[in-house]
Amino acid sequence: MKTILHLNSSIFGASGQSSRLAKAFIDELPAAKVVTRDLAAQPLPHLDAERFGAFLSKPEGRTPAQQLVVNESDALVAELKQADTIVLGLPMYNFGVPSQLKAWFDHVARAGVTFKYTEKGAVGLLTGKKAYVFAARGGLYQGTARDTQTAYVRDFLAFLGITDVQFVYAEGLAISEASKTASLAAAQRSLRSLAQPERIAA
Ligand SMILES: Cc1cc2nc3c(=O)[nH]c(=O)nc-3n(C[C@H](O)[C@H](O)[C@H](O)COP(=O)(O)O)c2cc1C
Repeated sequence: MKTILHLNSSIFGASGQSSRLAKAFIDELPAAKVVTRDLAAQPLPHLDAERFGAFLSKPEGRTPAQQLVVNESDALVAELKQADTIVLGLPMYNFGVPSQLKAWFDHVARAGVTFKYTEKGAVGLLTGKKAYVFAARGGLYQGTARDTQTAYVRDFLAFLGITDVQFVYAEGLAISEASKTASLAAAQRSLRSLAQPERIAA
C-alpha cells in the first residue's frame, strides 16, 4: 500500500478551497496510508540563525536545545521520505505561498539529508516521488508572469529531487460566484482525471 503525505497550508484548515481539493483528490485515489499535516493548525517556527545553526551542528556537539530542533526537522523529513506521493493544498496569500508552508520548506531543506552539494551543484535526494499541488487563488494568474508561486514551488520540490509534479488550479475564486463555481467544478474534473491512471495502475 502506498503512503501519501497530505499537506494543507490554508489558514482556514480543512475548509480552505485548496484543502478541499487536496482531500477530494485523495478520496479519488486507491486506498493508501495517508499522513496528514495541517501546517496552519500546527505551525512551525520561522527559521532563524539559532535553528539553522542546530541543523549544521555535529550530533556529538549538540546542546539539548539544538537536538530538539533537529528532532523536529528529522520528523518532518521522515514523513516526506516515507511518502510515495505528496498532495499539497496551496493557497495564494499576498502573491506568495502561506508563510506556514515556507516555514515547512525551511525545515525540510537540509544539506546532506534531503539534498547534497556536488561539483555540478545541488542534487535532490528525495527521488522517485510524485507530487500533486492544488492551488487556490482569488484572482487569475495561471500561465502569466505574475504566477511566481508555481515556479517557486516546482523549483523547491525539484531541489529536493521531486520532479514529477502536477498542478491543479482553482482560480478566480474572488471574482464572482459564477467564476468560483465554474473554477471549482473544473478543478474537480481535473483532479478526477489525474486520479484515474493511479486507479488503473493499482
Ligand atoms: C490573507 C489573504 C491574502 C490573499 N491574497 C491573494 C492574492 O495575493 N492573490 C489572489 O489571487 N488571491 C488572494 N487571496 C484569495 C485566496 O487565494 C483564496 O481565498 C483562496 O481560496 C485561498 O485558498 P484557501 O481557501 O485554501 O485558503 C487571499 C486571501 C487571503 C485570506
